[in-house]
Amino acid sequence: MKSILSGLSLAFLAASAFAQNAAIGYPPQGLSVSPGTNLTVQVERPNSLTGSEEVAVVIGLQSCPGTPCIAPADFMGQILYNGPFNPQYHETYNPPYENFTIQIPSNIATGTALLGVAHVTLIGAGLYPWLETLNRTITIS
Ligand SMILES: *[C@@H]1O[C@H](CO)[C@@H](O)[C@H](O)[C@H]1NC(C)=O
Ligand SMILES: *[C@@H]1O[C@H](CO)[C@@H](O)[C@H](O)[C@H]1NC(C)=O
Ligand SMILES: *[C@@H]1O[C@H](CO)[C@@H](O)[C@H](O)[C@H]1NC(C)=O
Repeated sequence: MKSILSGLSLAFLAASAFAQNAAIGYPPQGLSVSPGTNLTVQVERPNSLTGSEEVAVVIGLQSCPGTPCIAPADFMGQILYNGPFNPQYHETYNPPYENFTIQIPSNIATGTALLGVAHVTLIGAGLYPWLETLNRTITIS
C-alpha cells in the first residue's frame, strides 16, 4: 500500500513538474526570417494543476552560423525582450499563450541563429522560484 501511494505521489510530482513547462509555439524550427523584420515569438504556458504565478520572460537571439549554438542557459545573445509574461487563452484548441513581437537586428549575420527563451515562474503552495530555458533554431536569410 505504501509503495503504491509513493508511486502515485511520484507520478503526480513528475506530472506537476512537467506541467510547469512553457513551450515555444511559434516560430517553427528552421523558419527563415530577414534582418530588420518583426517576428512573433509565441510562448505557451499550459495550465498547471499546482498554483503558480508568472514572473517574466526573456527572449534573446544568438547568431551562430557555422558554429554550434551555445545553450541559452549559458548565453542568451542579444536581448530582444525582457519583461512580464501574461499568458491568456485565445483559441480554444491552444493552451494559454502570449505573443511577443521582436525585431530581428538589422546587422545580424545570415545563417543559423538561435532564439533563446528564459521563463521564470513561482510555483507550489509556498511559491518557490523556478527557471527554465527553451530554444528554437531559425535561419536568417
Ligand atoms: C515592428 O514592431 C514594432 C514594435 O513592436 C512596431 O512599432 C513596428 O511598426 C513593427 N514593424 C512592422 C514592419 O510591422
Ligand atoms: C535546444 O532545446 C532542445 C530541447 O528542446 C535541447 O535538446 C537542445 O540541446 C537545445 N539546444 C541548445 C543549443 O541549447
Ligand atoms: C499569435 O501569433 C500566432 C503566430 O503568428 C498567430 O497565429 C496568432 O493568431 C497570434 N495570436 C494572437 C492572439 O494575436
